[in-house]
Amino acid sequence: MEKLTIALLGGGVVGSEVARTLLEDAEALAERVGAPLELRNVVVRDLGKERPGIPRELLTDDAEAALADADIVVELMGGIEPARSLILSALARGSSVVTANKALLAQSFPELLAAADESAVRLEFEAAVAGAIPIVRPLNDSLAGDRVTRVMGIVNGTTNYILDQMAREGWDFAHALRTAQELGYAEADPTADIEGLDAAAKAAIIASLAFQVPVSIDDVHVEGITGVSADMIATAQAQGFTIKLLAICERLEGEDAGVSARVYPALVSREHPLASVSGAYNAVFVEADAAGSLMFYGQGAGGAPTSSAVLGDVVSVARRRVLGGRGQAAAQVRGGSRVLPISA
Ligand code: NAP
Ligand code: HSE
Repeated sequence: MEKLTIALLGGGVVGSEVARTLLEDAEALAERVGAPLELRNVVVRDLGKERPGIPRELLTDDAEAALADADIVVELMGGIEPARSLILSALARGSSVVTANKALLAQSFPELLAAADESAVRLEFEAAVAGAIPIVRPLNDSLAGDRVTRVMGIVNGTTNYILDQMAREGWDFAHALRTAQELGYAEADPTADIEGLDAAAKAAIIASLAFQVPVSIDDVHVEGITGVSADMIATAQAQGFTIKLLAICERLEGEDAGVSARVYPALVSREHPLASVSGAYNAVFVEADAAGSLMFYGQGAGGAPTSSAVLGDVVSVARRRVLGGRGQAAAQVRGGSRVLPISA
């Protein structure tokens, strides 16, 4: 079996989890893929920082050199540049690319997809929306034969954690935000979370996939949670409501036909399923003509949950490289080469 080489751009909250799993679970991953995955290097800014689980010899600050000969490039740096240029460079070289970078996707989706198409390689980004929850693939693939009319939910773990801790524990905003940062939920610049921009980037990606039109973050109406006070939360609670930062993407009909995407703190009735989404969990409701209502729920932020989605994409693109165009079904069966006991 010929091995597949991986260049990992970023060794922070998510990148370090991905690196650790690639190294520690190498045997199981090789079996699932049908070929060994070799982590060649991890690109960081600060070569002196302690990174438990990542051997020092894998660290480099030379991102362009790290791309050379990589079959798969995993971008977990965040931000627009140099992430955009590096992804374009990787795609042009024929590498498959996996990214969790919603800020970049919400700004440059058409450019990145066109670059992937041109090189006939995969660009996967399941981790860019709602952490561990599989929602990108359902919208892009599973529901592609249906007509999605509305997607609504909680898609930012940091703000949900902050609002939840303020409501349940009486924490102040600053303390809740600091803890969300320590837990690895927040963006490198948490302004993106609390001002609603991270949720807006996800709303743009969701709307683009659900309605098959390019929606950028500039098309999304955004209000964050910085104006939500402890008093507002207490008043809402006294009246049977909870305050949640919602992202709502809708297909509009009639005279105003088009797409609407908005993010804002909303009053949610205590009886509604979204009201009980706590901590950094996310929940996404999808409505489609034939499928009806679907609900997706799970951990929306943090190193380990996000690495689950990233590694799912890595295994998926790796299988395609191993199998060429021979299909997904064979790849699924390959992982079952061991006989597992089946109990009644
Ligand atoms: P992070 O902890 O800030 O890590 C970023 C990593 O990239 C660091 O290792 C950093 O190096 C490296 N890096 C950044 N700019 C660089 C540059 N110009 N050159 C070389 N290395 C550079 O971020 P994260 O939380 O892991 O997030 C990574 C990506 O995943 C982002 O796109 C984020 O939006 C997305 N995401 C995060 C979560 C989450 O829960 N954290 C969930 C879903 C998606 P140093 O360590 O040396 O600074
Ligand atoms: N900062 C993001 C959040 C990470 O809190 O939801 C997951 O995308």
